[in-house]
Amino acid sequence: MPKSYSISADSIAEETARVGGDLDQFDISRVIKLDDLELREMGPGDVHMRILAAAAEHNVDHAATADTVNIVEMRGGKTYPGNSAVGEVLAVGDSVTRFKPGDIVITHCNADPDEYGYPTRIWAYDAEDSIGWYGEEAVVGEWQLIPAPLDCGLNLWEIAALPLRAPTAYHLWRRGLGIYRLKVPREKRARLNVLGFGGGVSELFLMLANHEGHRAIFCSGSPDRRKHLESLGILTIDQKEFNRFASGDDVKAFHKAVRGMTDGDGANIVCDMLRGPVFGAGLRVMSRQGVNVSAGWQLDTQNNYNSALMSVRQLTLDHSHFDTIQGANAATKLYGSVFKPTVHREIYAFEDLPRAMEEMHKVMQTGIPIVRIAKEMPAAVADIIP
Ligand SMILES: NC(=O)c1ccc[n+]([C@@H]2O[C@H](COP(=O)([O-])OP(=O)(O)OC[C@H]3O[C@@H](n4cnc5c(N)ncnc54)[C@H](OP(=O)(O)O)[C@@H]3O)[C@@H](O)[C@H]2O)c1
Repeated sequence: MPKSYSISADSIAEETARVGGDLDQFDISRVIKLDDLELREMGPGDVHMRILAAAAEHNVDHAATADTVNIVEMRGGKTYPGNSAVGEVLAVGDSVTRFKPGDIVITHCNADPDEYGYPTRIWAYDAEDSIGWYGEEAVVGEWQLIPAPLDCGLNLWEIAALPLRAPTAYHLWRRGLGIYRLKVPREKRARLNVLGFGGGVSELFLMLANHEGHRAIFCSGSPDRRKHLESLGILTIDQKEFNRFASGDDVKAFHKAVRGMTDGDGANIVCDMLRGPVFGAGLRVMSRQGVNVSAGWQLDTQNNYNSALMSVRQLTLDHSHFDTIQGANAATKLYGSVFKPTVHREIYAFEDLPRAMEEMHKVMQTGIPIVRIAKEMPAAVADIIP
């Protein structure tokens, strides 16, 4: 029976009790456990694949700590996480037309699309009965797979970094730019100031902005990530120089710094996946008519703002989620040409996946964390393994 990681409500409760409810002491590696997974029977539209590599994603952190909602309990007490992966097709059902055994694929995590194609739920998080891909093998519907762009110029680990984060960034960028353009047409302002705060989604968002000729600014606490973005022509700010916006004075100084980098204008579009102290700092540095986009709530789910001031400055707050299936396919075409992710220095072994999640929780990584799941890799990817 294939091995797969699971999170149980019992292990969350045990760890919560061990640390007396103190999330700072919480150890995620004690909660994510290697388990057996009985694969569901193949249907005619299904694909049986083995997982080659997966990215550690932040929603697993949210699931394991239950810091937003206790999604594991809500889903009946046990989930199998992991919603982005690269895999090799082993077998296909009778009605599958897009894939054959031996193909290399990536996954998307859109589940239960609404009438416009946007996900109402996320695969392996809140989608009912969804089994994730932090395991050796999986059976998934053909609709959930996209051919892996093996010739895009990225290596296997870089490709594995993108299936969840790139479509999210692609959706956020379309939304932010579209909303801004409704207010300020290109004719009046061609080049925008675009700001993003640390993290994988934000860095990809800024790569889109930079590629389209805008002034992109990455505000991150990670020197490695900043260095990589600078090599692509993106400006950077060390978030720790402003104490991660712990006080009003830090925000004031940050405002001054951003004005200095933007000819006094401020940021026209801000990507804030974190909230908490980052939210107020992001609003403060926005230009008139600015747009603040977010699909994340890593530091907090609640935001406070002065509605009158927002009206006077004509600011827009937009909330989005993972992309449509078409959007996820379109984002894949930008791998390598636009999306060049930072990857954490260590490629984790399958047995070290719980440690990868714990190190993500502690903000110890130098880029997007990748877990190598298959020991033996197929010949199709041999040339792109660094
Ligand atoms: N709705 C969706 O479809 C969707 C999709 C993807 C992600 N998300 C959510 O978006 C959030 C970010 O995801 P991601 O994949 O971009 O994350 P990520 O690549 O794991 O990066 C998280 C970043 O957060 C920053 N950070 C951590 N602790 C911080 C603190 N105390 N203060 C300020 N910054 C801190 C760190 O940046 P620096 O150290 O570099 O500053 C870190 O690199 C998560 O909550 C995730 O669940 C939502």
